Amino acid sequence: MSSNTLSHLKIIRPDDWHLHVRDGEGLKSVLAHTAGQCGRAIIMPNLTPPITSTQLAENYLQRIIHAIPENSPDFKPLMTLYLTDNTTPQEIEKAVKSGIIFAVKFYPAGATTNSDAGVSNIRKCYATLEKMQDLGLPLLVHGEATQYEIDIFDREKQFIDKTLKQLIIDFPELKIVFEHITTADAADFVSESPSNIAATITAHHLLMNRNDMLVGGIKPHHYCLPVLKRESHRLALVKAATSGNKKFFMGTDSAPHNRQKKETACGCAGMFTAFAAIELYAEAFDDAGALAQLEQFSSLNGPLFYGLKTNNDMISLKRKQWTVPDSYPFGDDIVIPLRAGQTINWKLDL
Ligand code: NCD
Ligand code: ZN
Repeated sequence: MSSNTLSHLKIIRPDDWHLHVRDGEGLKSVLAHTAGQCGRAIIMPNLTPPITSTQLAENYLQRIIHAIPENSPDFKPLMTLYLTDNTTPQEIEKAVKSGIIFAVKFYPAGATTNSDAGVSNIRKCYATLEKMQDLGLPLLVHGEATQYEIDIFDREKQFIDKTLKQLIIDFPELKIVFEHITTADAADFVSESPSNIAATITAHHLLMNRNDMLVGGIKPHHYCLPVLKRESHRLALVKAATSGNKKFFMGTDSAPHNRQKKETACGCAGMFTAFAAIELYAEAFDDAGALAQLEQFSSLNGPLFYGLKTNNDMISLKRKQWTVPDSYPFGDDIVIPLRAGQTINWKLDL
């Protein structure tokens, strides 16, 4: 039986290895979606101010735990530190000792939302990276070059050539996750790198290309960073995600902004997908005739890379078309979800 005749799918509970849950009022509203389907999530530290110390991560973790809904008591947030030019090796030791921090996030300064405090030159962080390498703490990389002259569609490739290749030479044992890859160049690079280099892929980059952002009018809710690329890149990402290669795993990069911040003259980057994360991935894998590979990507490869156990319960999905609401609550505001008012072909079967 070919996989696209399947009407039900049972897989080990997935994890989200790249998630923005924000803070304050909005936190509770968006966290509930992820806690309802994932066992764990790597929590991005790009708040204002950013989570630059173990103490700040501890405080943020408490706010997150407070926001976990009663019906998802087993959900576990995995905290990260925001790397700056001034992050010390001592802070890395503290982070590892705390037991709550699972990675450090490297935003090149100016690359994306709330990255102003990011790294100006990665060479300034070499002592800190050395310590991470020694202690086995992964570096999560927003892999885009930031110089204004570099074309926005070339920024990922430029980052590989100008920064990542050298980083891997200088720190051959450092665990690195190339986050939310968007190009064939990145997929090839990760495939050809040693086993300590992995990548997350979002559902939206598996499902859409740049036409979905620009043809027939500009679509602010399809604007994210790294920006959607041309179809050949999307196809390369689908191939990587469905290949069974253990280096690729699920990271939604669900990044909610309130409606006003998206629908404006200078809109924020980020798509809200957490409300249907596994369903959107199921649709992408189904379209590729590769539903049988979904569990490996969503539930097995991530824990393997992070040296954690896989979740010990299952979730069920059914093939069922449903219409996405026009909006979801976001604190006392609203967030427009991906596919608002349109349909998704798979549904979590609770
Ligand atoms: C993210 C955000 O809004 O925090 N935006 C995005 O477009 N993905 C930041 C990021 O992950 O780049
Ligand atoms: Zn992100």
